[in-house]
Amino acid sequence: MSILVCGGAGYIGSHMVDKLLEENEIPIVIDNLRTGHRQAIPDKVKFYNGDIRDAVILDRIFTENDIDAVIHFAACSLVGESVEKPLLYFNNNIYGMQILLEAMVKHHIGKIVFSSSAATYGEPQRIPIKESDPTEPTNPYGESKRTMEKMMKWVNSAHGIRYISLRYFNVAGAAEDGHIGEAHTPESHLVPIILQVPLKKRAAITVYGSDYPTKDGTCIRDYVHVVDLADAHMKALNYLRQGNSSDIFNLGSGNGFSVKEMIDSAKKATGQDIKVIIGKRRAGDPARLVASSEKAERVLGWQPKYTSMEAIISTAWNWHKTHPNGFND
Ligand code: UFG
Repeated sequence: MSILVCGGAGYIGSHMVDKLLEENEIPIVIDNLRTGHRQAIPDKVKFYNGDIRDAVILDRIFTENDIDAVIHFAACSLVGESVEKPLLYFNNNIYGMQILLEAMVKHHIGKIVFSSSAATYGEPQRIPIKESDPTEPTNPYGESKRTMEKMMKWVNSAHGIRYISLRYFNVAGAAEDGHIGEAHTPESHLVPIILQVPLKKRAAITVYGSDYPTKDGTCIRDYVHVVDLADAHMKALNYLRQGNSSDIFNLGSGNGFSVKEMIDSAKKATGQDIKVIIGKRRAGDPARLVASSEKAERVLGWQPKYTSMEAIISTAWNWHKTHPNGFND
């Protein structure tokens, strides 16, 4: 049986496809290539160029293939963009989930592993954040992911589709051998933006605020390696296969690193100086976001391997230095 990976040509989805192949599973990908890359998917993987909001193509995929479960990454995922274009996020993410779940009900697909986010919590009330903490999203992106979780919950009650929702913190890094990695245009996240300086694609990195109540004044985040994340999805899939109930898990490394620490670590990994400009705070940035991943470790048996800044940044650097133009190289 196959595993349908929605959004499998994107950054995290493509690392998931890699992991599935490594585990001798049969991944099938649907991706509309809005932000994903066809080249990120090996030729041997069956690929559908399409949108999950298209019920006709989903019907075709579920009819043509013997699908055991769905792993769902297909969504818009930029916080700032979601504030400017909330309806884009509600349409692509929430309506996309509606069409996907309808197709799963119609074709009797009983399992889904879902890509959720720390953004479902909003401003944290305590650190480390636990799954049982309140969810008060502070932007439409987080709201859409929380709504998608609730949709799965009610569809589970009515139709028996079991789900695992994985709330990621700050995802970074790349496959160890550097054949795939992060490639967004424009780059939107801290690690690839820092690495654009040694790549000579930008003159300096602007640190958004150095007056936070943290050890060095810059924001603290919990960086989790994309390969560890893919491993957690695999464990979540097997957990559902074993007949367990639906659940929600945080995925972080349990370590908080500041923006300054990440830049210093990138200087070491690249062996180059990285020019820093101290800028103003970015609206909506909490000072600290650190996950408790204790539940994923205890229940799923997940153990992240890349827990140091160096391990995360050096794999990202390995990808970026060999692919300075992403998948166009
Ligand atoms: N930062 C800078 N300069 C930059 C870019 C980022 O100083 O040029 C700082 C940010 O202010 C923040 C940290 O680096 O403190 C990380 O920023 P990212 O934009 O890489 O990531 P966020 O923490 O904003 O976002 C992450 C996920 C989102 C998720 C959010 C939850 O990427 O998907 O956490 O709040 F929604």
